[in-house]
Amino acid sequence: MSVSNKSILLVIGGGIAAYKALELIRRLREKGARVRCVLTQGGAEFITPLSVAALSEEQVFTSLFDLKDETEMGHIRLSREADVVLVVPATADLMAKAAAGLAGDLATTVLLATDKPALMAPSMNTRMWEHAATQRNLAQLRSDGVQFIMPAEGALACGEVGTGRLADVPDIISALEAFFGAEASPLEGKHALVTAGPTHEAIDPVRYIANRSSGKQGYAIASALAALGARTTLVSGPTQLPDPLGVKTLRVDSARDMLAACETALPADVAVCVAAVADWRAADVFDQKKKKDGGALAPLALVENPDILARLSKPGNDRPSLVVGFAAETEAVPEHAKAKLARKGCDWIVANDVSQAGDVMGGDENEVHVISADAHERWPRMAKDQVAGKLAEKIAEALVSA
Ligand code: C5P
Repeated sequence: MSVSNKSILLVIGGGIAAYKALELIRRLREKGARVRCVLTQGGAEFITPLSVAALSEEQVFTSLFDLKDETEMGHIRLSREADVVLVVPATADLMAKAAAGLAGDLATTVLLATDKPALMAPSMNTRMWEHAATQRNLAQLRSDGVQFIMPAEGALACGEVGTGRLADVPDIISALEAFFGAEASPLEGKHALVTAGPTHEAIDPVRYIANRSSGKQGYAIASALAALGARTTLVSGPTQLPDPLGVKTLRVDSARDMLAACETALPADVAVCVAAVADWRAADVFDQKKKKDGGALAPLALVENPDILARLSKPGNDRPSLVVGFAAETEAVPEHAKAKLARKGCDWIVANDVSQAGDVMGGDENEVHVISADAHERWPRMAKDQVAGKLAEKIAEALVSA
């Protein structure tokens, strides 16, 4: 996957994070992309047209009413010659205007006139980000087809801490690379189904049984499969993660909902079950919030949840040709994984050693064994993204040679 030879129209909004657009231009150029920039009036308060022009080695477009620009390069042509329109930083104001379809300046006109996909990387104060109006605009823009590179959490320029920080430049570039897909697309024409995250099993209207799964590994696998050209469906339990770009994401709560969503998504060529599905759910869900009454709570009756991996592995017409399960083990990893392989009926088990509690679950690294009926590979410790990339390549090899 690469941005090489891609033409990117970068709209630079008027926020403090505008300075990061300069670094982004430099990195994209290094990777062989052509970057043309629209600098909004607000953006020009933070960085100068001269620095943008110097880094992009292109004319910088600043005004809708600059007749010279209009004769040389009309805004319609400008917006259509690009492969993608990328907005960095997308301010609350720019999002609101785009959501409303306003076209009072060059940036908004370009967004309205383009026939190409738009990606926005928002950046703003946490309260502005969380405000109902911004969230409404986000939902509107998403349903209009705009994709988002979501803001990160951290210390903001205004001194507050929260969500609203512009995604890091490498993350913006990865999102673009995923967007453009793989140069080589060995999984083109294949459908991949991935489960990820925890499930929430209701006890009463406000309480549920859950676990600490972050969904990171499953989301990374869905992204990696999509990057290799697979049409990818991600069935995700509740997580804090944004939908991966280029992946159809179905959000569910409970194990039973997850199973139903997976069954609807079939047929698939490969299924990768990464979700940490709750093993049990409450036999009866209380209709009303259970109140304290000074005494002990009678033990909750629990019943077993359906096993999604076992269901997808079951021989039959709709069995994907490759079914991959995950296993978290604390000891005798290969032996336990082998036993699980047989019990579930899947083709491979990716087993991770979670003996160092708190390290793998929710963390950014993973150390795995990939086990099949006749092979055992041990992979060194690496980032979850790398595990995902390597696994996606292994899946591609297996499907292509099948
Ligand atoms: O049985 P155990 O939870 O150890 O197995 C883990 C594997 O089984 C994972 O791939 C997980 O996604 C899958 N699983 C499932 N449905 C369940 C329980 C586990 O798909 N109810």
